[in-house]
Amino acid sequence: MSETYYVTTPIYYVNDVPHIGHSYTTIAADVLARFFRAAGRDVRFLTGTDEHGVKIYKAAQERNMGPDELGDQVVVHFQQLWDDLNISHDDFIRTTEDRHEKRVQKLVQTLLDADEIYKGQYEGWYDEGQEEYVTETTAKANNYNSAINGKPLVRYSEANWFFRLGKWAPKLIEHIEAKADFIQPAARRSEVLSKLKQGVDDLCISRNKTKLPWGVEMPNDPNYVVYVWIDALSNYLNALGLPEIGDEFDGKFAKYWPATVHLIGKDILWFHAVYWPCILLAAGYDLPMCVYAHGWWTSEGKKMSKSLGNFISREEIAEICGDYHRDVYRYYLLRAVNFGGDGDFSREMFKQTYNADLANGVGNLLSRTINMIGRYFDGEVPQPAADVEETAAVTGAAEALRTEAERHLESCSFGRYIDSVLTLVDAANGYIEVTEPFKLAKDDSQRDRLSTIMNACGEACRLILTYLAPVMPEKAAEGLAAMGVDADETTPLAERGQWGRIAAGTTVTKIDPLFPRKQ
Ligand code: MSP
Repeated sequence: MSETYYVTTPIYYVNDVPHIGHSYTTIAADVLARFFRAAGRDVRFLTGTDEHGVKIYKAAQERNMGPDELGDQVVVHFQQLWDDLNISHDDFIRTTEDRHEKRVQKLVQTLLDADEIYKGQYEGWYDEGQEEYVTETTAKANNYNSAINGKPLVRYSEANWFFRLGKWAPKLIEHIEAKADFIQPAARRSEVLSKLKQGVDDLCISRNKTKLPWGVEMPNDPNYVVYVWIDALSNYLNALGLPEIGDEFDGKFAKYWPATVHLIGKDILWFHAVYWPCILLAAGYDLPMCVYAHGWWTSEGKKMSKSLGNFISREEIAEICGDYHRDVYRYYLLRAVNFGGDGDFSREMFKQTYNADLANGVGNLLSRTINMIGRYFDGEVPQPAADVEETAAVTGAAEALRTEAERHLESCSFGRYIDSVLTLVDAANGYIEVTEPFKLAKDDSQRDRLSTIMNACGEACRLILTYLAPVMPEKAAEGLAAMGVDADETTPLAERGQWGRIAAGTTVTKIDPLFPRKQ
């Protein structure tokens, strides 16, 4: 049995339609899933939607519809976008599904049975206009007025159900200190640790139905629903059929727990790095191997907003994918910024990156290689026949790519992964410049040298496209087909990544430029 690899995205709120931020996490997860599948791991990739809670309840009220209707309407936009972006998830979970709701109750019941949940008194600020609790920090920042309508916040005191978060904090601190990779990037880990060390209160995990009737009912108390974050976080476990209840999901997917990586945005790190692990500890589950928090996108230098007109909506994404290709959009998001940091989406930068990396880099190398093999060797990859010293630069870059690729993606370093591919592209294009095969072709005595060079160029193209495939599945398949290579080959990547696998005699076919230059 191969080692399991379980990657998740946040489940997205259905109070609004998807945008670039949602697509970013999902594309990153897809690249990991595709890469580790190719590497021979047993991969499970989960995404879905978060459909309970006050946000959805209010958004539905504003639209004069039921929260369930809103969910049914908006979920389609997410599913459609994942189709449009060629996302290869294995499962899509909605928190309104029966398989989810009954497992949320089961998890809460387990915690109740273990005395990890108790009834206490909630004391705090409440925004009556918004019908929501406001934390002390937010209340203070707004002079104890509503951030939305400016009216004074009301002091609330009501009975609620609490999870013993404080009890588990020391154990969690120990875990974070022992496992450097548990929270990534490192700067975020330090943030979480120092905040944790200031102490945490127990967590109120219920909402009174008189204020919020939309959610999963507490299993022990019909007057309350489960707090939306507890409901939502448990999707990662529930989708695997855990806790076990005895239906069709039982046993089949449990092997994927613990998750290899939860990919999330930096804004929801505390929930994933503190609440979720403490709940798992209390319920007796292993902790996920890694929680990776990526940065935020701005658009054209500003925070995205519909009123500023710089909002990268689903329609906008469709337009970009139409102008370039959906693979190019996938590539740009992962190439443009360091995964842990913030990034700015700019149309101009998009075009520049495309022209530099893809049109002039990968695309140019592929067309030159195919054209020259066509012209000098009747379209058949030649056998290497002479030692060509300059080849070492290309084989060196190829070997570096093969050995580093997995490590880069193990640590979600998408930028470095792509850099390793581009280093090979540059090495191969540079190789053509210095060895000048177009001159050698005119001299019969140089035939052996030319054979080695064209074989190496063919091999470089094969490797570049093979490693680009998780990021750009369709473009890579198109390029590989032109190189006469089977894109669906199931040989594990570690083997396919070896230099020298392209068979002499493989037929290459001329195609239109894979990445036509954009003006
Ligand atoms: N429903 C919760 C997650 C529950 S997970 C158990 C939620 N949903 S969300 O739809 O509001 O956001 C989901 C993700 O989108 C978050 O990780 C958030 O960081 C990400 N993004 C939202 N806007 C973003 C950008 N502008 N840029 C990058 N990602 C951003 O939170």
